[in-house]
Amino acid sequence: MTDRAYNFAAGPAIMPESVLKKAQGELMNWHGCGMSVMEMSHRGMQFAEILSDASERFRRLLKVPATREILFLQGGATSQFAAIPLNLMGGGPASYAVTGNFSGIAAREAEKYGPVHIAYEGKPNGYSHIPTQKELDIYRKSAYFHYCANNTIYGTAWGYVPETYGVPLVCDMSSEIMSHPVDMLKYSLIYAGAQKNIAPAGLTVVVVDRRLLGRESESIPQIFSYEKQIEKHSMLNTPPCWCIYMLGLVLEWIEEQGGLEAMDQLRRARSSLVYDVLDNSRLYKPHAEQKSRSMMNITFRTGSAELDDEFCKGAAARGLLNVRGHRLTGGMRASLYNAMPIEGAQALADYMKDFEVKNRV
Ligand SMILES: Cc1ncc(COP(=O)(O)O)c(C=O)c1O
Repeated sequence: MTDRAYNFAAGPAIMPESVLKKAQGELMNWHGCGMSVMEMSHRGMQFAEILSDASERFRRLLKVPATREILFLQGGATSQFAAIPLNLMGGGPASYAVTGNFSGIAAREAEKYGPVHIAYEGKPNGYSHIPTQKELDIYRKSAYFHYCANNTIYGTAWGYVPETYGVPLVCDMSSEIMSHPVDMLKYSLIYAGAQKNIAPAGLTVVVVDRRLLGRESESIPQIFSYEKQIEKHSMLNTPPCWCIYMLGLVLEWIEEQGGLEAMDQLRRARSSLVYDVLDNSRLYKPHAEQKSRSMMNITFRTGSAELDDEFCKGAAARGLLNVRGHRLTGGMRASLYNAMPIEGAQALADYMKDFEVKNRV
């Protein structure tokens, strides 16, 4: 990996090296047009080509049905915590499963716009558990049911798509989008901040079923309106042009690697290298319970804040960057997104074993 470190940050996060090189090669003069992508008008023909290429690749890779619109927006996933109820709640209520920090923020934001029914609350178990279908209490007359597929901070993930019995399904896929095939017909809306798995920070992707539109709040700011954004092809205002360009390059790279099936195999291989160490360790304690584990963000601790600190410093000295856990959990977190080479996961697993030998308990 030349002089680059392995970056385990949770987002903004590691990008495929070949994508960075391609962007570097095209930086000054995109396809001979005499300008950088950063300099071109979003209304010009060059950017139109970049936008449609990214959009087509996105549709192809995720197998997005023709009934769904793909929007390239700004404001981060956080903007969607408000945009979703403003567009879809109508008179409400909406059901929310709270399995971590971001789904909790999403539910609290939605409460500003209408009644929210909490279908599951994970706080009592420290957000280490993902509810089974039986543990979910989805109100059958909900405008929609919202959940977060992968909890970036706590390192938990839903291993299944919840059954909602006709209630439109809405999902925050920020930290796992494009890491495995998804049956998009099950979802009325998915969204993701792109800065983890698919692009640099600044782009938010929303895929929405057109049949869900027509319920937006009268006071919705136009920038949040899916109807307006669809009408204007994501160009109600200046879009995040550079990020959309980078998204296109990342999606091209995913296609070259063998698509989402290949990403799925990789995430399994990478995460099992690290989980194998955790499962055979007397030093490390995983945060997530076994059946709720994420393959994208792995959270663990030693039980001693000093030792955790030593672990993180030692990792950085070996070129394994950003393994410190989120301030809400402490301990360690290794984010293993699409662009993390298997060698990176292996290097982390090796370091974990070495560290344990040195700090035998
Ligand atoms: C699962 C999830 N949802 C939402 C967010 C918030 O995203 P943003 O910073 O793009 O608003 C994050 C950020 O880390 C996240 O991991």
